[in-house]
Amino acid sequence: MNPDEMLEWLGEKDPKKLQGLFKAARACAVAHVGPKVYFRGLIEFSNVCAKNCCYCGIRSGNARVLRYSMPAGEILDCAREAFEMGYGSVVLQAGERQGEDYCRLIEDIIPGIKALSGGKLGITLSLGEQSFATYERWFRAGAHRYLLRIETSNPGLYRSLHPEDHFFEARRNCLRSLKKAGYQTGTGVMIGLPGQTNEDLVNDILFFEREDIDMIGMGPYIPHEETPLAASGQKGNDLTDNLRLGLVMIALTRLRLKDVNITAATALQALDPAGYEQGICAGANIIMPNITPVKYREQYQLYRGKPCLDEDALKCSGCLDRRIRSTGAEIGYREWGDSRHFASRSKVPARPV
Ligand code: 5AD
Ligand code: SF4
Repeated sequence: MNPDEMLEWLGEKDPKKLQGLFKAARACAVAHVGPKVYFRGLIEFSNVCAKNCCYCGIRSGNARVLRYSMPAGEILDCAREAFEMGYGSVVLQAGERQGEDYCRLIEDIIPGIKALSGGKLGITLSLGEQSFATYERWFRAGAHRYLLRIETSNPGLYRSLHPEDHFFEARRNCLRSLKKAGYQTGTGVMIGLPGQTNEDLVNDILFFEREDIDMIGMGPYIPHEETPLAASGQKGNDLTDNLRLGLVMIALTRLRLKDVNITAATALQALDPAGYEQGICAGANIIMPNITPVKYREQYQLYRGKPCLDEDALKCSGCLDRRIRSTGAEIGYREWGDSRHFASRSKVPARPV
């Protein structure tokens, strides 16, 4: 899959041809990362954020959002629920915050999650840009994966989507720090952003390759009316087209990078009631079911139309089990399902539990 071919596929709209691409990508996933899909329970434990990204509903400048931070005990209860449902891992996600107190809070929660699961729950963090020292402390505390989307690999486009004090290079350096600190490192982009071209999307995949990334999570951009990007009236692609592009991007990334983990993003599900299934059938192998307590979900809307705002974790789990099995994939309950790419780049075998 070379860049010209990728560009051609991004312009392809014939459903029959696209089905052929998706089938090849799913076969490639089965061959390189195995037939299983792994669940990572997503805990959105705080919507407090110091940043002000122009596309995001919980940006610090949005005064309409009621800010919350779950108490540590509640975070641990969520992790316990994930463990009891057979999920192999949890993802701790929040808006971005810095400072010693915050760093220590996370440093304390990580061993708490390890303890309640007898060391069995894998822990992924998604807590934004931090110093190398902070990344190291959290790694030493027991987290072993980290997600930090680059959002777009085009520095000019990045600039247009962020306030002046948010820097593309700083974010890219964070990805390098994460790898140096020892994490399985994940990144990704939004698809269908205003001003984004198909060439940009091809370059995004080449960026993942160049930075030797282990895990990819990317999804369609979905406007949120309380943001400057949506209010500016600049249009991205139409939303059905974003769904198509999101699936094609998964397939192309799978065919190019082969042994990375790829998430079927929630934003796919927001655009189509069978978004997760379609993501799996296009080459993804990870799902991040939302296990945040329902009472907080209304206040964690990065984009509008987030699915399952009132579905509790248990209900969600049963429903997802059926849906993912309907694609023919198996589910790797109680397994970490670590990135095989990480295992081969670090020559350390992925640790199955
Ligand atoms: N549409 C889609 N994805 C979004 N994110 C933030 N705002 C939006 C939006 N309007 C994504 C970003 C961020 C991740 C947590 O959510 O890529 O990294
Ligand atoms: Fe904060 Fe992340 Fe939203 Fe940016 S995208 S405003 S860092 S929560």
